[in-house]
Amino acid sequence: MDKQTKYFMEEAEIPTQWYNIQADLPEPLPAVLHPGTGQPIGPQDLAPLFPMELIKQEVSTERWIDIPEPVREVYRLWRPTIVHRAHRLEKALDTPAKIFYKYEGTSPPGSHKPNTAVAQAYYNKAEGINRISTETGAGQWGSSLCFGGACFGLEIKVYMVAISFHQKPYRRVMMETWGGKCIPSPSPDTKAGRAILEKDPDCPGSLGLAISEAVEEAVSREDTHYSLGSVLNHVLLHQTVIGLEAKKQMEMAGEYPDIIVGCIGGGSNFAGMYLPFIKDKIDGTKPDLRVINVEPASCPTVTKGLYAYDFGDEAGLTPLLKMYTLGHDFIPPPVHAGGLRYHGMAPIICHLHKLGLVEATAVHQLGTFEAGITFARTEGIISAPETNHAIRVTIDEALKCKESGEAKTILLAHSGHGHVDMAAYDAYLAGKLKDYAHPETAIEESLKHLPEVG
Ligand SMILES: Cc1ncc(COP(=O)(O)O)c(C=O)c1O
Repeated sequence: MDKQTKYFMEEAEIPTQWYNIQADLPEPLPAVLHPGTGQPIGPQDLAPLFPMELIKQEVSTERWIDIPEPVREVYRLWRPTIVHRAHRLEKALDTPAKIFYKYEGTSPPGSHKPNTAVAQAYYNKAEGINRISTETGAGQWGSSLCFGGACFGLEIKVYMVAISFHQKPYRRVMMETWGGKCIPSPSPDTKAGRAILEKDPDCPGSLGLAISEAVEEAVSREDTHYSLGSVLNHVLLHQTVIGLEAKKQMEMAGEYPDIIVGCIGGGSNFAGMYLPFIKDKIDGTKPDLRVINVEPASCPTVTKGLYAYDFGDEAGLTPLLKMYTLGHDFIPPPVHAGGLRYHGMAPIICHLHKLGLVEATAVHQLGTFEAGITFARTEGIISAPETNHAIRVTIDEALKCKESGEAKTILLAHSGHGHVDMAAYDAYLAGKLKDYAHPETAIEESLKHLPEVG
């Protein structure tokens, strides 16, 4: 029996180009609309927020986009990441399924996020920008951008969703260690934050609200750009290093996945994994490939949301994106997977879902921690609460194989470790966590506030 457990690649094999799915989509993505006019936006509309290279990537239909050498040089600090065969988990589940996972937790901040943070910091610096504002949920993105800022000498200001700021104080310390500044959102620093604080001084915050604050700061200061850690096309593009490497590593293992599983908050880590594979489904080479996007039942964007134009943020400052949405003013229940508490979803993922190329499912919090504990006790890694969502469904699919006797190959996108989330594990182990019901009435209410589009 082949007991190889880890599939390594050489540093020289770090991809030299990102893969752009826009070249291969069966139908183009719906246009992005201006929030004021409802008309398709042009590059100049985005120029106050992003460097021109990223704006070009957002709309590019070139299949391959070169990774700048200074970005690859930083990638070398932790890439290529390893693909593991989860022999011990398979044994514990007594499943004939072959489970593989690509582990992004070995990056300095502990997740997939620096794959794009480093690139975004680089492009901003290259265009003479020295300061970036951003938002963060659980703190993974904020800490990654602060790391990226440290690599290229930029000042980073992070609005962190208040509930996570208080639940996860060590993420703030990581950001400060890399030279960034982090404050809880809603904050008194912006109009959007003050408006919410007046209504509810104890507001737990949301990613949509923190985005409003960070965007407001960027548009009101000449020296500051904005950076988003997920959702947008260029972010997913940068994350394709995960899938490009994984494809080679699966080849080394002599396998091609039947099922790929990952968690989706804004969609970046999982799309980064599966876009290079979904290309094979689009061109008919792998028609049976299943891709399962996993989201929290408390924030069921794709499984319960509407496919409609909506703002990316709470206050309605961002362009309108066609996506599954729970409504931009939906504030999700305070589950520990802070990075999955977002009302919208990457337009690329929504488009692929609409075209029937990928699936989605929603899982409850307690089951995700149970799965994370099984993973920790077999594979050793203590996973981020976000990642535990993907582990839950991986285990469920492997158990289905046990019933059917099929030896399917499952590839799990493992987005990060949970070392800074031990308070969540502590609460789970002490029996203090609970499941939240589908927040149906709150979703119905916020869906009433979708913007009207011509
Ligand atoms: C470890 C981890 N996984 C997943 C996510 C979800 O983000 P995305 O869907 O963009 O990968 C986050 C977001 O913060 C995260 O920290």
